[in-house]
Amino acid sequence: MPELAISTTAISKTFDGKPAVRGVSLRVETGSVYAFLGPNGAGKSTTIRMLLGLLRPDQGDITLFGLDPRQHRGEILARTGSLVESPSLYAHLTARENLEIPRRILDASRSDIDRVLKIVGLENARESLVKTFSLGMKQRLGLALALLGNRQLLILDEPTNGLDPAGILEMRSLIRQLPTEHGITVFLSSHLLTEVEQVATHVGMLSQGEMVFQGTVSELEQMRRPFLRIVVSEPESACALLTAKGWEVRAVDGHLVASDVKAVAAINRTLVQAGIDVHHLATESASLEEVFLRMTRAEVR
Ligand SMILES: Nc1ncnc2c1ncn2[C@@H]1O[C@H](COP(=O)(O)OP(=O)(O)OP(=O)(O)O)[C@@H](O)[C@H]1O
Ligand SMILES: [Mg+2]
Repeated sequence: MPELAISTTAISKTFDGKPAVRGVSLRVETGSVYAFLGPNGAGKSTTIRMLLGLLRPDQGDITLFGLDPRQHRGEILARTGSLVESPSLYAHLTARENLEIPRRILDASRSDIDRVLKIVGLENARESLVKTFSLGMKQRLGLALALLGNRQLLILDEPTNGLDPAGILEMRSLIRQLPTEHGITVFLSSHLLTEVEQVATHVGMLSQGEMVFQGTVSELEQMRRPFLRIVVSEPESACALLTAKGWEVRAVDGHLVASDVKAVAAINRTLVQAGIDVHHLATESASLEEVFLRMTRAEVR
């Protein structure tokens, strides 16, 4: 199996003169859970549609499993399962019946239905009508559909969209076990880092069609820039004083936040000498979510 399950070189797509995806180069390693993150309209679904061959890029190349989709479309599709938006299910049929039609198309064995239902935890709902299913169960059945046959890669567009916290947890633990227990590489999109940071091994961040970060979750951790949080008796005059002395300081929820962590002693001295009480002064790190927002919010870039 090649090292990269998905590789793209600077793919771009423009709709009516408006660029939706700009020069995106993805590197998705075999065996990883790759979270493709970005706010609404960033270009995640457009990229996914290009990966699945549903849209043709204006520029750039795509390979899946090291294969060119223009020559190996059938093989790539047979090895790639996908769940894009909500799954199309027949409400008046049972879970098994919903899987039966694609099973025949894929020429998979009958036992494959039980195998995929077991993976998604629906083995006891095999003969239940889909119209009695919760949203979370429908989403899991959608995942079972994507897993039918011999899939080595799953491409999921916002698989937790619309699920309640319990449904999100279920989906998360399911996705986490796919590479380790079933040898399946997972590429999933989300607009919330908090939803995927516990399952992902790798992260790609998209902002206005462009990749602003790509790397492992621990590389992302290193982007958590430390800062000083200061709690004082008079935040407004303290902020004015420190700013006048040349430090970069912002007022956030009645606290002050300074970027120069090395200046902790000097800042403390300046405040005390000016007669301002310092109740709290400590170094903190941005959360991953803050890093994500900083990178993807266009106005602060
Ligand atoms: N078929 C289309 N025709 C015209 N514009 C489109 C089309 N598909 C997407 N776009 C535009 O491309 C941009 C990217 O959209 P896309 O759906 O890829 O974003 P997304 O990251 O999936 O967002 P969301 O989180 O809302 O699903 C948006 O500005 C969108 O309006
Ligand atoms: Mg989308």
